[in-house]
Amino acid sequence: RQTGLTALDYGFVNTAATRSAITFIDGDQGILRYRGYPIEQLAKNSTYLEVAWLLIYGELPTADQLADFDERIRHHTLLHEDLKRFFSALPHTAHPMSVLSSAVSALSTYYENESDPHNPEHIELNTVRMLAKLPVIAAYAHKKSIGQAFLYPDNSLSFVDNFLKLNFGVMSEPYEVNPVMSRALERLLILHEDHEQNASTSTVRLVGSTGANQFSSISAGINALYGPLHGGANEAVLEMLGRIRESGESVQRFVERVKNKEDGVKLMGFGHRVYKNYDPRAKLVKESADEVLAELGISDPLLDLAKELEEIALNDDYFRERRLYPNVDFYTGVIYKAMGFPTRMFTVLFAIGRLPGWLAQWREAGTDTHTKIGRPQQLYTGAVRRDYPGTV
Ligand code: CMC
Repeated sequence: RQTGLTALDYGFVNTAATRSAITFIDGDQGILRYRGYPIEQLAKNSTYLEVAWLLIYGELPTADQLADFDERIRHHTLLHEDLKRFFSALPHTAHPMSVLSSAVSALSTYYENESDPHNPEHIELNTVRMLAKLPVIAAYAHKKSIGQAFLYPDNSLSFVDNFLKLNFGVMSEPYEVNPVMSRALERLLILHEDHEQNASTSTVRLVGSTGANQFSSISAGINALYGPLHGGANEAVLEMLGRIRESGESVQRFVERVKNKEDGVKLMGFGHRVYKNYDPRAKLVKESADEVLAELGISDPLLDLAKELEEIALNDDYFRERRLYPNVDFYTGVIYKAMGFPTRMFTVLFAIGRLPGWLAQWREAGTDTHTKIGRPQQLYTGAVRRDYPGTV
């Protein structure tokens, strides 16, 4: 019999590990708010950096505060030239998520004397550094995977436009940002900025609770996001759609296989631990998918396939009884693909989106006087005491 154990909760379905004032979710009603502001209003009217400020500091910034924040981030976009050589040591086949998490760990080695997790100046500086440098690292991971030269950041551009240029610009050729792509990417990034205590954010908090700095905590968060049940689902959705199309299997037959749990196949991009009626982000992403593809003049049969799949699943008892609906990852891949991102970059885009949330949550945990080292209990199911042969 174990003492002190009050509940066994696989997957933390019922257990809160923290208080938080950052993000509110009502899973039954499909509500998501950052610091009280509805996600629909922010996605329509705000910018990635404005929302980042809101999440991190708790209020919308004034025009001066936002301009100063933007300026400080532009000032820190360059990577040390030695860190750029880090990418040469990796195979071009490396998954960009592995490259991103490794490079964020490596980034910390440049700031070891300025990474005290209890020093407010260091925390502030590294918040800005990460917002400035992670998009550059992400774009270099992309360039590395397609064998193209890295570009220097263009600090005359906005955050999102600079990111697009770093990904799609080619050395010594002019690059013109497509405003449709820019706005669509900004909106998608905003939708991903925070989502309370999901697996990667909980990882960031858990690692942070040991006294680890922001770089270590966030590189751990990136690794947690990589899994296909979490952020990796956006890549898995596109692969699933591609496989259905290439195999010629009917959508109905695929859904039957999901329902029969054949080979553990799941409908990727469906289901959520918290949303049991609909995911408000998925609704906005679906609207965006139609708009963006139309504005970019792209017609993608995978979008039609995704809609057919959604339609069949939503009218099927298996999905209805289990309250499984499309989540944020179901339609994002179709948009990223239309923008020209390779499938393996999709989860990296999620990570850049989620970065402000991770930073805000790490900082909140650090100022919460109740924060303790995270240390879950277990229910022991192994052997009772026994003696090593020959000792008795
Ligand atoms: N396809 C088929 N069946 C499913 C799915 C799915 N996508 N999701 C859940 N189920 C079934 C599951 O098999 C179980 O059935 P049964 O009662 O017969 O055993 C039932 O629904 C309850 O599922 P669960 O696994 O207990 O639910 P969970 O809250 O533990 O898992 C989830 C949530 C998101 C991991 C899961 O729905 C899933 O694996 N979805 C596919 C992956 C995905 O799209 N992930 C992205 C999540 S949203 C963005 C993010 O957080 O990164």
